Amino acid sequence: MQETIDKITRSFNAELEKASSVAELNELRVRYLGKNGVFTEVMKSLKDIAKEDKPFFGKLLNDARVKIEEVLQEKDKTAAKEEQRARLLAERIDITLPGVSAEAGSIHPLSKVKAEFAEIFTSLGFEIKEGPEVELDFFNFQLLNIPKDHPARDMQDTFYITDDVVLRTHTSPMQARVMLEQKPPIRVIIPGKVYRVDDDASHSPMFQQIEGLVVDKNISLCDLKGCLETVCKKLFSSKTKIRFRPSFFPFTEPSVEVDCSCPLCGGKGCRICKGTGWIEILGAGILNPKVLDNCGIDSSVYSGFAFGVGMERVAMIRYGIPDIRIFFENDIRFLKQYK
Ligand code: PHE
Repeated sequence: MQETIDKITRSFNAELEKASSVAELNELRVRYLGKNGVFTEVMKSLKDIAKEDKPFFGKLLNDARVKIEEVLQEKDKTAAKEEQRARLLAERIDITLPGVSAEAGSIHPLSKVKAEFAEIFTSLGFEIKEGPEVELDFFNFQLLNIPKDHPARDMQDTFYITDDVVLRTHTSPMQARVMLEQKPPIRVIIPGKVYRVDDDASHSPMFQQIEGLVVDKNISLCDLKGCLETVCKKLFSSKTKIRFRPSFFPFTEPSVEVDCSCPLCGGKGCRICKGTGWIEILGAGILNPKVLDNCGIDSSVYSGFAFGVGMERVAMIRYGIPDIRIFFENDIRFLKQYK
């Protein structure tokens, strides 16, 4: 028995020598002291020993077991400490380094302007509609009093898809679509993309308009002016004034070009308004009775007004942006300014 115990102790010590991690020490513990471990086995063989010798060998065995337990615990502690130290070293961070801030996106200035328009017009009782960007010539031109071969077609350089299908050159075809669909009173705005063969610092082949349409009894230029002035005051500042200049559109009669007092200099004259104090912002007019009749609305009973405003133009004025193309370049340095 004595010999067996010595052998166990020796082999344990040899193994202990090699074990250094907490996991290895655990494995050793299970193998020697566990339920099915070496000591349990030897314990079983006690039954074959003479009764009077049992207490002696029992104690011997137990002492050896306790000794092993102690040594294991001791080594365990050092191993755990060592492992923690290594982990802390590996996970070391330099808390004096500057942090990496999370990048948040921002709303595109055009989307902001669009949302503001929507907010203002819905507060005035307008409904918001949308329409197709690929449009029939019939809606884009013909119903709006611009027949084929009419010189007014030159006002808008058109992308033709076929002879009868175009990329809409303005949001005005939605005037016709809405009037064909709805009975007066009508109050809608139609925001959306439009396309023209045009490309320079103030024109882009794709840009966005907001069409406005009101049809009811006794609608006059006064209503148009009141409506647009209210909108411009909300959009720019309460001091903003507007003025009408005579113009021509085949679908409105009379037609006007609308200027607002320059929101950047307050009307004194600056680079943006080219020293005039006024900035042209949209085209508008009283619905041509021909268009009402074309769309099945009795022009002897109803009248209306319409306007078309360029969203990029408003955003350019609003934020003092000199070139329309910047909107579409997706330059993060530009976009970041509008957070
Ligand atoms: N559709 C015109 C344009 O794009 C603007 C407009 C709309 C004018 C409604 C009058 C009435 O230039």
